[in-house]
Amino acid sequence: SCSAGDANTVVIGLAADSGCGKSTFMRRLTSVFGGAAEPPRGGNPDSNTLISDTTTVICLDDYHSLDRTGRKEKGVTALDPRANNFDLMYEQVKALKDGVAVEKPIYNHVSGLLDPPELIKPPKILVIEGLHPMFDPRVRELLDFSIYLDISNEVKFAWKIQRDMAERGHSLESIKASIEARKPDFDAYIDPQKQYADAVIEVLPTQLIPGDNEGKVLRVRLVMKEGVKYFSPVYLFDEGSTVSWIPCGRKLTCSYPGIKFFYGPESYFSNEVSVLEMDGQFDRLDELIYVESHLSNLSTKFYGEVTQQMLKHADFPGSNNGTGLFQTIVGLKIRDLYEQLVADSKATAPLQATKT
Ligand code: ADP
Ligand code: G6P
Repeated sequence: SCSAGDANTVVIGLAADSGCGKSTFMRRLTSVFGGAAEPPRGGNPDSNTLISDTTTVICLDDYHSLDRTGRKEKGVTALDPRANNFDLMYEQVKALKDGVAVEKPIYNHVSGLLDPPELIKPPKILVIEGLHPMFDPRVRELLDFSIYLDISNEVKFAWKIQRDMAERGHSLESIKASIEARKPDFDAYIDPQKQYADAVIEVLPTQLIPGDNEGKVLRVRLVMKEGVKYFSPVYLFDEGSTVSWIPCGRKLTCSYPGIKFFYGPESYFSNEVSVLEMDGQFDRLDELIYVESHLSNLSTKFYGEVTQQMLKHADFPGSNNGTGLFQTIVGLKIRDLYEQLVADSKATAPLQATKT
């Protein structure tokens, strides 16, 4: 039979440090694909997996080869490749891509131990999110599209404080220390993956307020690789030109410090890219339609879909700025990529059938 290989699972990689907004991104992405993703029913309550009709999101922490105690004993962090089983990651992502179910381990974030595995069936779209989706060349080769969330140190610090101090009762000193302790391994093993990404979302402090370091107002850049099959970058006004745009005025309400867009060609790790940038934040989300109407190649199915998605999830972090906007846009581009891939494989399938 030809049950394996029929499935055509599309594999997406999402890389970022922990606490950098991966789960928020995933919620936006699965919403664009239709239907919220939920933990597997009846399984381990500490499972890290999310499943919707179309999409399964697996967390690469599940491929930790060393548990919390093991890492302590050996003196390695979770970011260190030696704490992760890339052979198994490759085998299982490959199997899923080929339409074969796998028994994937579970890293229990509460206990710090590896729990008994869970069954993962091949979905239409498989997202692998975590610290190392583009680290191993074999796994990288399996990705149909890859994204890197690049949060600058200043912003990472601001977000960590917000979460760990406000919600988890950590001290400022201990947050600083934990970021510092992770930094060497982050620089060595996580950060370099961005050179392989088809899209990078960079999150930086604003340039609209001189000397601002608060991390509240953000300058966000969507870096899109040119020449990627099934992915054609979004643009502002005219493709390939360089544009600076202040949309504030009669059609868009802005309060201090305003909003500034930029679009233009650049080079990124010696790749040709297009960059769309937004600095500042929206006062009124419904007016986003004005900005949306000036963007092209959005891969929307109807006029205003970006605005609709943003309004739908107005309560998610980053909805009033470029993080939410660009995550939504990347979601639409991935839906488009998926649909093109499926259409292409359907077109070639009868051909293969007559050959064999
Ligand atoms: P991860 O899944 O990578 O650990 P989350 O999506 O859970 O990250 O986000 C972690 C925290 O970072 C959130 O609770 C929130 O405080 C902050 N955060 C994430 N994305 C944003 C954003 N776009 N704007 C502001 N804060 C954010
Ligand atoms: C997960 C996260 C890492 C985090 C680790 C905690 O693996 O992805 O970012 O550092 O858990 O590790 P620890 O050794 O502190 O338990």
